[in-house]
Amino acid sequence: MSANPTLVTARHFEYITARTTQEDDFLNSLKDHAVAADIPAIWISPAQAGFMQILLMLCRAKEVIEVGTLAGYSAIVMARALPQDGRVRTIEISEKYAGFAEEWVERSDVARRIEIHRGSGREILPTFESDSADAAFLDADKAGYDLYLEESLRIVRRGGLIMVDNAFAFGQLFDENPTDPEAPAVREFNEHMAREKRLKSVIAPFGDGCWVGVKL
Ligand code: DHB
Ligand code: MG
Repeated sequence: MSANPTLVTARHFEYITARTTQEDDFLNSLKDHAVAADIPAIWISPAQAGFMQILLMLCRAKEVIEVGTLAGYSAIVMARALPQDGRVRTIEISEKYAGFAEEWVERSDVARRIEIHRGSGREILPTFESDSADAAFLDADKAGYDLYLEESLRIVRRGGLIMVDNAFAFGQLFDENPTDPEAPAVREFNEHMAREKRLKSVIAPFGDGCWVGVKL
């Protein structure tokens, strides 16, 4: 056996994808309609979705919070990993995206498990009670991540899960001159996460990189 870890390449990810349950017709249709409605075509990959669902199931999550609903794809994915009486409270600042997500959540199999809160994470998170969630997924404006993390550390119980999307900065993590204006904020946040003593965390290389941390 090699002493070094295997260098994971695009081929490995294709291999993983080919062995991962793909999204169902409903989520496929949601994506098509989001594109038709001019909503940014941004969603987690089926492998990331499956990984997040497994983590939620392992920590027996019942209450999840999310910052950045967008089209509602990840809220529906996460809600499907919860028990019948579970709940995802998801925050969306854009009235247009929240309206789209509401419509699709309503039609989904997990409509009763999802609440959409309209507003910014900055406004809404402070209204959530401390220790009232088992897990959080941060996937909104990257300049807000520090604040969302701080609030999540208050809202998520000890032993709960905090996941943060886009650790690979939209594929521009190593670019000297990244074109995405949010790339520097992601890099700074990654340094913060690496030093964060209140979490045991690691970047999982699914999708655009997803931080996974357990609240100690
Ligand atoms: C992009 C992707 C994301 O997952 C996100 O949260 C924001 C932006 C992008 O590809 O631009
Ligand atoms: Mg994201």
